[in-house]
Amino acid sequence: VLDTPELLANRAASGFAARARSAVQARGEFTVALSGGSTPAALYGLLASPRFCGYILWPSVRVFWGDERCVPPDDADSNFAAADRALLSRVPLPNANVHRMKGELEPRLGALDYREQLRAHFGESTTRFDLVLLGLGPDGHTASLFPHTQALEVVDSTCVANHVRTAPVAPWRLTLTYPAINAARAVWFLVEGEGKAQIAAEVLDGPENVLALPAQGVRPSDGELLWMLDRAAARLLK
Ligand code: 6PG
Repeated sequence: VLDTPELLANRAASGFAARARSAVQARGEFTVALSGGSTPAALYGLLASPRFCGYILWPSVRVFWGDERCVPPDDADSNFAAADRALLSRVPLPNANVHRMKGELEPRLGALDYREQLRAHFGESTTRFDLVLLGLGPDGHTASLFPHTQALEVVDSTCVANHVRTAPVAPWRLTLTYPAINAARAVWFLVEGEGKAQIAAEVLDGPENVLALPAQGVRPSDGELLWMLDRAAARLLK
């Protein structure tokens, strides 16, 4: 728990930079799945700032996404566009290292395309990200794993199209599945603001009900799970 959103972004940025360095040292590259929504904007801005940018070996970073809204990549609601604006266009990251989910395609084709991109990069064996960044929605969703939707049931695929009747924007989504997220070396939730206090307490301290609270289904099988909350979002935690 960090006192302010600024401290939370700082903690996430220094952790990101450290993980990137050690992954590159150990395996020659750092694979990260970015999250959408508004919370990571401050982190992305810091990573692009002089304080962090030079510390990260960008040519060895491979950027993926945890989810995407089915809209074109220049749409105001595109998760790619948000990350591109705040981070990707401002750091020396080769275009070939950016693996976006193609929200402009018919959703099932977009998911197929992403599964192929993942297979091309990680091979036939497990898709294992060094880091998956996630947010927490006010209804307990994470990535585009929304309550009581089909994507929650998927056990044999890395990325699927998910129709979300209740989504605030773009009802069709592309999302990583639990198997892909839970195989990661590290998964970090970034959660801030008073508006998340109730749902954070339900997810972290309440009884388990993954279908109603999909964030509870994130349990890396052999990796780190870290929740970073600001004090306002952590207010109701036990
Ligand atoms: C999306 C997401 C989603 C997001 C949460 C939190 O595409 O909407 O990736 O899972 O992370 O809804 O969003 P905020 O950071 O805006 O609260």
